[in-house]
Amino acid sequence: MSFEHPNPTIQAFGRRVEAAFTGEGSGHDWWHVWRVWRLARRIAEAEGAGLYLVELAALGHDVEDHKVGRPKGTLAAWLAEAGVDAATAEAVVAIARRVSFKGAGVPDAMPTLEGRVVQDADRLDAIGAIGIARAFAYGGARERLLYDPSEAPERHASFEDYKKTNSSSLMHFYEKLFLLKDRLHTPTARALAEERHAFMEAFVQRFLDEWEGRA
Ligand code: ADP
Ligand code: NI
Repeated sequence: MSFEHPNPTIQAFGRRVEAAFTGEGSGHDWWHVWRVWRLARRIAEAEGAGLYLVELAALGHDVEDHKVGRPKGTLAAWLAEAGVDAATAEAVVAIARRVSFKGAGVPDAMPTLEGRVVQDADRLDAIGAIGIARAFAYGGARERLLYDPSEAPERHASFEDYKKTNSSSLMHFYEKLFLLKDRLHTPTARALAEERHAFMEAFVQRFLDEWEGRA
């Protein structure tokens, strides 16, 4: 299957991303990008954000993610190849650089509405049922334990500390996933987050009950 879009520039860029991300196994696969693109479009429409920039930034947001290891400049090159104008490309790169979660104590800085929409969409895809699946998929890919009862959750004050963490997948809920609901920018995303957050809380409660043989 390949990415379809009525705008030929967005389609060309989306297909470039799709080709590179298909089969990527660390929670940054093409379907993550596709879900973020869909959510971002929905949030942008509700919030009155510029759709062209939002769609391109959603599709490009993980191209240079620190976990994926593509060289700096890849995103700009792919945008240019697809025929995106220089000013828009620059705005996409600026959003992508800021989108990632860097630890509980590291504040977000996202100056444009379009950037806030994309960051919200990316974060919504990290919570709820999909978020649970991604956390354990990521942990599995790194040979992490599901849970280690001897661990205590850490609040990372710097991106360096957050990156170094080697904790169990369940700990990731406390280090990141439970914090995301309160770090969303737009009312539309906050409303969507409520149910996803409650679902994760119920999941973790149930997980711990089963772990202890209480349920
Ligand atoms: P982003 O950069 O979009 O904020 P990440 O690249 O950190 O997100 O994470 C990608 C996916 O992998 C997310 O669903 C995230 O929750 C999950 N993930 C990241 N780090 C861990 C971890 N230590 N344990 C389990 N899941 C993780
Ligand atoms: Ni992402």
